Amino acid sequence: MKVRKAVIIAAGRGTRFLPFTKSVPKEMLPLVDKPVIQYAVEEAAACGMELVVMVTTPEKAALEKYFARDTELERALQQAGKNDLLEKIRCLPDLANICFVHQKEQLGLGDAVLAARAVVGKEPFAVILPDDLFEEREGVLRKMLNAFQKYQGSVIALRKVNKEEVERYGLVKVEEMTGRICRVTDLVEKPKPADAPSDLAIMGRYILTPGIFEELAATPRGTGGEVQLTDALKRLLSRQDLYGYEIQGEYYDSGTIPGWIEATLALALNHPELGQKLRDHLLHLLP
Ligand code: UTP
Repeated sequence: MKVRKAVIIAAGRGTRFLPFTKSVPKEMLPLVDKPVIQYAVEEAAACGMELVVMVTTPEKAALEKYFARDTELERALQQAGKNDLLEKIRCLPDLANICFVHQKEQLGLGDAVLAARAVVGKEPFAVILPDDLFEEREGVLRKMLNAFQKYQGSVIALRKVNKEEVERYGLVKVEEMTGRICRVTDLVEKPKPADAPSDLAIMGRYILTPGIFEELAATPRGTGGEVQLTDALKRLLSRQDLYGYEIQGEYYDSGTIPGWIEATLALALNHPELGQKLRDHLLHLLP
């Protein structure tokens, strides 16, 4: 079955960016010339998703406003002859067909995915956590979609992490398969380094079968008092195969201040107009 819908999860509080996130969603933080959320929507569109389901909260209305048409602003830019800027805002509502659903209470990532159930229905779907950015960009999701078509089972993105990092992620146990694809045989959310089943951590891209919704609905709150997607995946594993796709190349967690700065620098250094100037400036600043 074809994957047609991508669920972008953006209902978290973003406390690591307080005080900024007191009034602005962290997904509106710019990465050079556009906000984090736009990268996620563009990735979904580039991978052929026909519908983007964005999970947010009423407090994060700025996300919805960003993708809505603003005819008054368009008129003002047109009258001022600022056609390049006009183009930049006019394209936003057409990037993808987006619908918004609210997570009623911030009960964790698993609960946020469950909030999309009515819109997704009984078909496989992609999940994108906009904080997680990869050098491979949409290549990650595209290859995961190919793996889903080939193996007809849920596929989760994995990446090797250091021992000190394992407590921040869901970790998996795997069996080798071919190339960057492996079979997942166990999962554990935020283990102590000594209990980690491997050094492979779950990253923010998933292709899921609709069976995950039943499992999420039956999953009790786990680590941190939240409904953990990792726990629901472990339940799903008892009745369906689960595959991992190992990401290589650089990874940035723009949901943390250091990760956001690193992502900004990497993107700016590769920017055709800004890159060289920034490189010169950084060399000037470095001792
Ligand atoms: P994080 O663990 O980064 O949490 O969520 P957070 O709330 O966004 O940020 P901090 O930790 O307070 O700084 C991982 C993903 O799950 C979503 C977030 O939006 C992010 O995409 N999430 C988390 C929800 O949608 N709802 C929740 O209740 C929790």
